Amino acid sequence: MAGSTLEIKNLHVTIEDKEILKGVDLTIKGGEFHAVMGPNGTGKSTLASAVMGHPKYEITEGSIHLDGEDVLEMEVDERARAGLFLAMQYPSEISGVTTSDFLRSAINAKREEGDEIPLMKFIKEMDSTLDALEIDKNMAQRYLNEGFSGGEKKRNEILQLMLLKPEIAILDEIDSGLDIDALKIVSKGINQMRSENFGCLIITHYQRLLNYIEPDYVHVMMQGRIVKSGGPELAQRLEAEGYEWIKEELGIEDETVGQNA
Ligand SMILES: Nc1ncnc2c1ncn2[C@@H]1O[C@H](COP(=O)(O)OP(=O)(O)O)[C@@H](O)[C@H]1O
Ligand SMILES: [Mg+2]
Repeated sequence: MAGSTLEIKNLHVTIEDKEILKGVDLTIKGGEFHAVMGPNGTGKSTLASAVMGHPKYEITEGSIHLDGEDVLEMEVDERARAGLFLAMQYPSEISGVTTSDFLRSAINAKREEGDEIPLMKFIKEMDSTLDALEIDKNMAQRYLNEGFSGGEKKRNEILQLMLLKPEIAILDEIDSGLDIDALKIVSKGINQMRSENFGCLIITHYQRLLNYIEPDYVHVMMQGRIVKSGGPELAQRLEAEGYEWIKEELGIEDETVGQNA
């Protein structure tokens, strides 16, 4: 079988009694790259957090399945073991845990007990991936994300992605804070992941990233819903014309899910 399928149906999510997602439908299959675009405050990161099981996000309606398994029944670590991965918009700093140790534990958490990755094999894989992403080798010995620049944090998320090799990845604003050279390197890493066994959801505010990672499908999120879907040409049009035309087409005045929600 080629890859996994993540199926999100009619997802409603509430944070602190405010409804943020109001019925999101999205299916990502192995081999597919999807982009979710949209102005700030429309619920994109909420979608990512809800899929990964952030406790603050209450699912009030709808379902999430990975290959038919109910994701909402899984604990956060089970979701990762099942093959889901999230590169966070704002990665957290973990003091006292080196990047290298964190990565090795994360890889081993996905493997059976007694089948841990041999240390030398891990080091070899990590080193070659650090090279590919042009990350200074010393970073692996620093505490995870502590004192990392914005760009280093983003590269580190892709380092995790490439070493963990999830079935389905959600990359939230992976391009923010990257200069053009870093953007190219990070995109190259993500493109290297392309295979029948890997499906990806790329969340981005700007079209820029999609010049380097061409999505198969583009979705626009507004007011906590996917209001429009299409191919790469949709991203091109957004780049050229912004979001106003969609708002006019759909009669939307305020695209956010903010105060009036
Ligand atoms: N942890 C949170 N606590 C309170 N409000 C939140 C939280 N996360 C998101 N929100 C609110 O949900 C709405 C959508 O936010 P978000 O999903 O981050 O949007 P986007 O990623 O599209 O910019 C915003 O109004 C935001 O303030
Ligand atoms: Mg966001």
